Order: sequence, then structure tokens, then C-alpha cells
Amino acid sequence: MSSSYGIDMGTNNLKIYSSSNGEIVNVKNTIAIVDKDQMYAYGDDAYSMYEKAPESIAVSFPIVSGVIADFDNMQTMLFEVLEKKAKARMKGADIVVAVPTDITEVEKKAFYDMFAKSKTKPHSVMLCEKPLADALGMDLDITEPTGIMVVDFGADTTEISVISLGGLVLTELLPFGGNHLDDAIVTHMKRKFNLLIGRKTACQLKENIGSAIPGREDVMTIVGRDVVSGLPIEMEVKSSTVYDGIKDELANLCNSIKMILEKVPPELAKDIVHSGIYLTGGSAGIADLSTLFTEVTNIKVNISEHMGHTSVLGLAKVLSDSKYKRFGYGMKTRIFK
Ligand SMILES: Nc1ncnc2c1ncn2[C@@H]1O[C@H](COP(=O)(O)OP(=O)(O)OP(=O)(O)O)[C@@H](O)[C@H]1O
Ligand SMILES: [Mg+2]
Repeated sequence: MSSSYGIDMGTNNLKIYSSSNGEIVNVKNTIAIVDKDQMYAYGDDAYSMYEKAPESIAVSFPIVSGVIADFDNMQTMLFEVLEKKAKARMKGADIVVAVPTDITEVEKKAFYDMFAKSKTKPHSVMLCEKPLADALGMDLDITEPTGIMVVDFGADTTEISVISLGGLVLTELLPFGGNHLDDAIVTHMKRKFNLLIGRKTACQLKENIGSAIPGREDVMTIVGRDVVSGLPIEMEVKSSTVYDGIKDELANLCNSIKMILEKVPPELAKDIVHSGIYLTGGSAGIADLSTLFTEVTNIKVNISEHMGHTSVLGLAKVLSDSKYKRFGYGMKTRIFK
């Protein structure tokens, strides 16, 4: 039997579902380069070098804001992960790749070309709109005449979509995600405490003691550099400080969700109010995010327990369930017709 693979190249994480063992590989979508074009490390190893590497090693993220910014390095890393980590057999394989909806055809084609313009010989390559994959991955039947609202809160993007009868009624890709929260924490620490911290430390603060509403009472000890003395110092950071750093960014996100809700046709809005908003993506892990969204929209929020990889769970269904096969589409016919 031939193998099939569902792939989501996210800004922070590369996720691959493999049909042969039903497992998901999830690695940091990061590559470390030496001598301009030689791969030195990739995935989690490359990420551990981020903000630590000497000048001779360039650590980069080949996907930026949900689209491919560095085709060659993305391709090199993708096939390395497929071969070494997912133990993929590409010859004769069926591939389906998740793509954001609200990007150009040329940007979508770059995802397709990852495989179409490679030396491997897959049997078929298809694309699938990521919000549809997310909804399938959350076990929702997207073919019903029922309005479903999906929010994928990722690292560089947030995709807000309304689905009905297997199609996307509305979709918007916001250039905002967890990475921007990390930056906001870095800025806040500098402004409030004259402390310079790295993005990775900011990310740990957000994931470990952050929250979307006030009231969390945890602390975490970090090391940063004091701007005044120039020396590294240890500091205990409170949850309330992290919350202060990210609250304005989260308020902006809430406003965007509200604006999209205002555009939903009334009959579909009725369904969304009834079943709730479906929230996924790694950043859905911020503590109490659903409480915040419910406060703002008055609509209940369902957070996926598989928030880090609902897209590839959905792609698995597109690959295996005849009912959902049509959600995968080839590219050539669409772009060259
Ligand atoms: N427990 C947590 N609390 C808060 N944020 C979290 C948590 N776990 C993961 N994240 C954040 O989730 C983000 C990664 O999510 P995800 O894997 O969905 O992004 P991506 O698919 O790579 O990005 P994009 O969809 O924007 O291209 C990171 O910003 C990470 O810090
Ligand atoms: Mg994503």
C-alpha cells in the first residue's frame, strides 16, 4: 500500500502526519545555515541555536507570516524531516499540504511546488485550505448546511474563518500571532524594568505564567540584561506583568474577531451562537483565552484539545475518508486553466 502524508508548514512549527503509522511529527520550522547555503542543523536543534549562534551560523525561519519566504531552505529542511524523522517513503506517496486561504495563488503554488519541483516522485500532490483542515481535525462535519467559525491562532498569523456546506463563507488571515505577543513582552520588560530579555525567554514567560485575563498568580525567574548597568541579572516575573505586556495585543485580536462576526450572514451567525467558536492553533494555549473571547463576543468558545496539530489531523481525513477527499485540490489546473 502506498503511503500518504499531511503537511502543515507553519511559521514556528512544521507538522507532518504519516498514514503508515498514524503518527504526527512536530518540529520547529527553523534552519541553521553555515557558508551561506550549507545546512548545519534543522528543526528543534536549529531552534535551540536561535539568539545564541555566532555570526558564522545564520538561524532562520523559512516561513514568514504563513507564507514561504525562503523556498530553497524550506525544501531542504522539509525533505530532511520527511526522510529522517517521519521515515517517509516519497515514491508513489499521496501528499496533501495545508495552505492559508487568504493568500495569493502564487503563494499557494509555492507550497505545491515544494513537491512538484522536487526530485522525489510522489503519486499526487494536493493542497487543502487550512481552515477546512482545522475544522475536520476538530471532528466537525463541514459538509452540513451549518455555520462553523474557526479561529486558528498560530505563531505569526491568526486565521479567522466561517465555513458552511464545505465552503469558506468568510476568511481573513491576520498578520498577528504568538510571536507578536513575545515581542510585546520583550518591549514591556524593557520599558517597565529596563531589562533586556530574549524572545525565547519572553515566549517561556507567555507559555508558563501568561494569561488572557488578569488574576493569575504565578511567578517565574528569568535572566536578562540590565539596560543601566549592562550586567546580566536574575529577576522574578509575575503573571500580572506578563498579562500587562500582552493585554493590548489580545484586545486588538478580540476587535478583529468582533469585526468578522459583524460580517457573518444572520442565519449562519445563529449557528455560530448555538455551537460556539472553535479555537485552535498553538497560541490557543494561553491560559483563559476562551474566557476572554466569551467576555468580548458573548459566544461560548470550544478549545481543541489537539490545538497544536488539528490541521494535520484534518489532512489525515482528506487523505483517508472518501467523504472529504474533494477538499484536496491539485494546483496546475487552477492556476494554468
Ligand atoms: N501553552 C501555550 N501558551 C501560549 N502560547 C503557546 C502555548 N503553546 C504554544 N504556544 C504558542 O503557539 C505558537 C505556535 O503555534 P502553531 O504551531 O499553531 O503556529 P504555526 O502553525 O507554526 O504558525 P502559523 O500558523 O502562524 O504559521 C507559538 O507562538 C507558541 O509560543
Ligand atoms: Mg499554523
